[in-house]
Amino acid sequence: MLAPLFLLALSSVVSAIPVKRAQPTDWMQANIGLLGSRPLINIAIPGSHDAGMSQINSGTAFSNAANTQTQTLSIGGQLSAGSRYFDIRPVIADGLYSTGHYSDVTQIGSWQGSNGESIADVISDINSFTSSNNELIIINLSHAYDTDAGNSDYPIFTQAQWDALFEQLLGINHLYIDPNPTTVDLTTVTLATFISSSPAVVVVVQPDDTIDLGTYASQGFYQYSQLNAYNEYSDTATLSTMESGQLAELAAQRATPTQTYFLLSWTLTQDTVQVLGLGDSILTLADEAVPALYTALPPALSTNTYPNILFIDNFQNDGQMVDLAMTINTNYAS
Ligand SMILES: *[C@@H]1O[C@H](CO)[C@@H](O)[C@H](O)[C@H]1NC(C)=O
Repeated sequence: MLAPLFLLALSSVVSAIPVKRAQPTDWMQANIGLLGSRPLINIAIPGSHDAGMSQINSGTAFSNAANTQTQTLSIGGQLSAGSRYFDIRPVIADGLYSTGHYSDVTQIGSWQGSNGESIADVISDINSFTSSNNELIIINLSHAYDTDAGNSDYPIFTQAQWDALFEQLLGINHLYIDPNPTTVDLTTVTLATFISSSPAVVVVVQPDDTIDLGTYASQGFYQYSQLNAYNEYSDTATLSTMESGQLAELAAQRATPTQTYFLLSWTLTQDTVQVLGLGDSILTLADEAVPALYTALPPALSTNTYPNILFIDNFQNDGQMVDLAMTINTNYAS
């Protein structure tokens, strides 16, 4: 009878010891010996969905934290926690550039949503992180709307509005400028090329026939086609449907290690009732989805088949996403 009691006591002591994170904050640099010679298409990294939405600063009448908040850590907090790919949705709100999370609610004929971290804060978070970490950071800009235009129909950014955003984003230190900036396929560039001697920040911008990167194309801004990811969300609030859907797409899109640059979109999407506030918030859905990733993904991995971006809501500072990416990088990718 003593043994079980002893084990019980021991296990409570063990669980009180703080978990030591397996990987340091600058996990890419710490593993540069393993990863440096690999192109991005053979590396797995964690990423953040709707990354600016850790704060709800202002928004429309029917928006609230439950239906627009996707993260609880700031961009700086997510960087420290290991995320390296950021889905940033820029909006203009009260004349300033902010991140936002908006959708066109056709049932009521209006756009609804909220604003998150300001673009100014995103820039200062990135710069403070890169001042002491030689890491690669990828920013993906999309869903750019002028919310000052009235919410019956938010217009997408004009060329002038994009240019003013690019001008502000030039405040990001260490923007990566490739020797062939307009033709490079970034998925073929090795990690050491980006970060052997300094941090590197890559900004990819949603293609739109009317938008021209102009001179910004040689200053660290790239077209989506230059980091051409397979990126399809499952559009369901049901975990099992999302899981089987994403794993089927992984198997189909990554039958070989160079077939596609693959983003595993491990997020749940609220159904209409949940958006209205009856049921789970986005963060509650994330807390169901993220732990399932750690058990569902490993059996689907092989040396041919693994994702490049592990993309989630509510990115936590518990080291688990970096551990999973490094398990892939160590045991499957090469
Ligand atoms: C950037 O985001 C857009 C919109 O969500 C997506 O279509 C595209 O695949 C993304 N690019 C990358 C490199 O993930």
